[in-house]
Amino acid sequence: MKVLVIGSGGREHAICWKLHQSSHVTHLFCAPGNAGIAEIATCTPIQPSDIQRLAEFAIVQKIDLTIASMDECLAKGIVDYFKKKGLRIFGPTQNASKLEWSKYFAKEFMLRHNIPTASYACFEQRDFALAYAKSQKPPIVVKADGLALGKGVTVAKSFEEAKIAIHNCFDGKHGEAGQKIVIEEFMAGQEVSIFAITDGKNVVTLVPAQDYKRLYDGDLGPNTGGMGAYAPVPFMTPELIGQVKEEIIIPTIKGMEKEGYPYQGVLYCGLMMGEDKKLKVVEFNSRFGDPETQVVLPLLDEDLFEICWAVTEGDLGKYKEGLHRLGGAALCVVIASGGYPENYQKGITIDFSKLNEPVEVVSGKNPQTLEAILRAKGIIFHAGTARDTDGKLVSNGGRVLGVTALADSLLDAQVLAYKLCERIEFEGKYYRKDIGDKGMI
Ligand code: AMP
Ligand code: GLY
Repeated sequence: MKVLVIGSGGREHAICWKLHQSSHVTHLFCAPGNAGIAEIATCTPIQPSDIQRLAEFAIVQKIDLTIASMDECLAKGIVDYFKKKGLRIFGPTQNASKLEWSKYFAKEFMLRHNIPTASYACFEQRDFALAYAKSQKPPIVVKADGLALGKGVTVAKSFEEAKIAIHNCFDGKHGEAGQKIVIEEFMAGQEVSIFAITDGKNVVTLVPAQDYKRLYDGDLGPNTGGMGAYAPVPFMTPELIGQVKEEIIIPTIKGMEKEGYPYQGVLYCGLMMGEDKKLKVVEFNSRFGDPETQVVLPLLDEDLFEICWAVTEGDLGKYKEGLHRLGGAALCVVIASGGYPENYQKGITIDFSKLNEPVEVVSGKNPQTLEAILRAKGIIFHAGTARDTDGKLVSNGGRVLGVTALADSLLDAQVLAYKLCERIEFEGKYYRKDIGDKGMI
């Protein structure tokens, strides 16, 4: 089977890495990919927004299955277009992915279907939004309605901060996406992400993961595209996962079908666990999350190609006993360029040579080279990387690498991931030092 993956981040590297292990996959393609993906797939420089050219590529290359996991191309209707051309593709249609690309739609939908979420109000006029925000007790959550690269949400500690966020939206900081806004009640608690895979009727869930969105340790600083993740999340007991399925996932899938938007693909549920131990929806995404995918897929003990294929066949019922997963834990630390998420340099040389040094690792009795450990338990996922004209590996984005480690315990995975991070060198590299801590208290 020939498979095409669309995207160029750490998430797409993890998807390609997992598909590469499938005995069904004979040729793997990625558009546009990155330097890490290029080691296991044929990369083509077509941009994810160029849906027409992607479809032409799929036709010419006789691609059997395309996997679309980028919010922007799903919102642009890549699935609808591919299906119209008779191409098999994994992902929700444009209307179904509205659960992600319109926060207003998602909130109204949840209200209609009695799905637990924060209370909210929606505004298209600045003055009404400001008056409403003034009447609310801080913190006040202000969200641009549309896609904003994960930067459209402000959790404002005062009305003054909320006011700035509201003005930013209506002044065009997030373009069209901010011309409508949702103002939400603040939910305190711990966040968890659950990916549900569905063919529109049947559903399976992947291991719950926790994402670190803020730039600095202790969850301080601005929101980013994600600075790390770990899985499984200890407080997500099987009972709670069952509850999420019954109260959130199944009503969402049934509700979408009832409203005329049958949902296929990944439904990403971003949830908040309050002190009352009740889970509420923070957001829906219509795709795999980044960087959660970099810990969730390495723990999946199933063939990802078979799962995606079953979704497109409407045959996911064959997994009704649930998906097998590996024991232990996975942890991913994102290494970013200095200055991210604001201004950062590209083209900085990345040096892996120190990974060959002998080093005592975790509870290992004999010193081993990190390279040997890496082969067994570590995976370096590339995000913003490229080759320069001399073929040297260089940075090509804000988030550069996602260093994932697998181990019997979360603590061991954390130790191993950080040992790997220390030995990867590039100028100005930055990463959080507390990924996984929340899973150990
Ligand atoms: P979203 O893009 O909707 O996931 O929001 C980004 C981040 O903002 C979330 O991961 C939360 O950390 C935070 N957030 C969003 N909505 C709320 C809320 N109602 N209460 C508390 N935090 C929130
Ligand atoms: N990890 C958050 C996201 O993928 O949107």
